[in-house]
Amino acid sequence: MRAFVVTKYKEPLREAEVAEPTVGEGDVLVQVQAAGLNQLDEKIRLGEFKQILPYKLQLILGNDVAGTVLQVGSKVRGFKPGDEVYGRPDKDRIGTFAERIAVAEDDLALKPASASMEEAGSLPLVALTAWQALVEHGNVRPGQKVLIHAGAGGVGSIAVQLAKHLGATVATTASGSNAGFVRDLGADVVIDYRTQDFEQLLSGYDLVLDSLGGENLEKSLRILKPGGKTIGISGPPDPAFAREAGLNPALRLAITVLSTKIRRHARKLGVSYEFLFMRASGDQLRQIASLVDDGVLRPIVGKVFSFDQTPEALQYLTEGGIRGKAVVALSN
Ligand SMILES: NC(=O)c1ccc[n+]([C@@H]2O[C@H](COP(=O)([O-])OP(=O)(O)OC[C@H]3O[C@@H](n4cnc5c(N)ncnc54)[C@H](OP(=O)(O)O)[C@@H]3O)[C@@H](O)[C@H]2O)c1
Repeated sequence: MRAFVVTKYKEPLREAEVAEPTVGEGDVLVQVQAAGLNQLDEKIRLGEFKQILPYKLQLILGNDVAGTVLQVGSKVRGFKPGDEVYGRPDKDRIGTFAERIAVAEDDLALKPASASMEEAGSLPLVALTAWQALVEHGNVRPGQKVLIHAGAGGVGSIAVQLAKHLGATVATTASGSNAGFVRDLGADVVIDYRTQDFEQLLSGYDLVLDSLGGENLEKSLRILKPGGKTIGISGPPDPAFAREAGLNPALRLAITVLSTKIRRHARKLGVSYEFLFMRASGDQLRQIASLVDDGVLRPIVGKVFSFDQTPEALQYLTEGGIRGKAVVALSN
């Protein structure tokens, strides 16, 4: 089958003819119809994740899938051929930039019935990230104040909607040209990050979802109320993540050192910092699908590329300017 692969880190993504996926007893074979593109794909291609995700090359890239079930393993109970599904495969089994992929049953859900394949394919990684940040780690409650950075981006456009649904007052950062767009998603306060300094404008926040890191992360800690929390998805990774990921002692030590400054800064302010690396979850995708079908969450597909254009699409993503998500659509 056709697929787009990384043969050597930093080299352009290239098309290859690869073997058909092996379908294990707990796996579902999916005919890929749409695959969302993520910054993670580009970071993997560049080798930035090779310590944490030590993939064996050649690697089929791609972290999001929507498509139709072709076949199921002997122990699969939740899906049957013909079902329309979506998912983010486990981090060790990615490879959605391909005609077919075998995904563990637990990592898949029926796609939202009201969503197109492109819309469903845009959701898994970013919607799971938003869910795990705001529901699992953030425990957002009605009346709380939540800042979502980069509200017009892939993660941000879903996180703004989810935080609003959870009852929070939502602030977000975006370019001025995206102010109307993020207000439509539910943002109560919009800050143009190009001309305004959010640290000067916001205070007393319960939670920040930071997707930028660096100075943005430090400033985010300073707008929290005592006991507030910043969840970082662009790093630095923290010791809890290193422990849960089962990393070797040398890497764990390196990660502890990397995050020492920000954790110390948080402690001095009486707030906390947590790093989140999202994980696959079919259960959470089922809840997300309900919210989409109830009209609570709207998938935002800013641009659709053909399968042939996958390498260009990845390049396009890194240049910015897409509202919501870029998606590769396969016609098969
Ligand atoms: N740890 C995890 O599990 C995890 C999961 C998902 C994503 N991530 C990471 O999170 C980051 C965001 O991912 P994404 O998919 O949302 O990326 P994305 O869709 O490419 O985000 C682009 C958005 O960033 C905004 N932006 C750029 N500079 C900004 C600034 N200084 N302040 C506020 N907004 C700014 C842009 O806003 P305008 O267009 O309005 O200018 C644009 O909408 C990436 O680094 C990704 O790797 C991590």
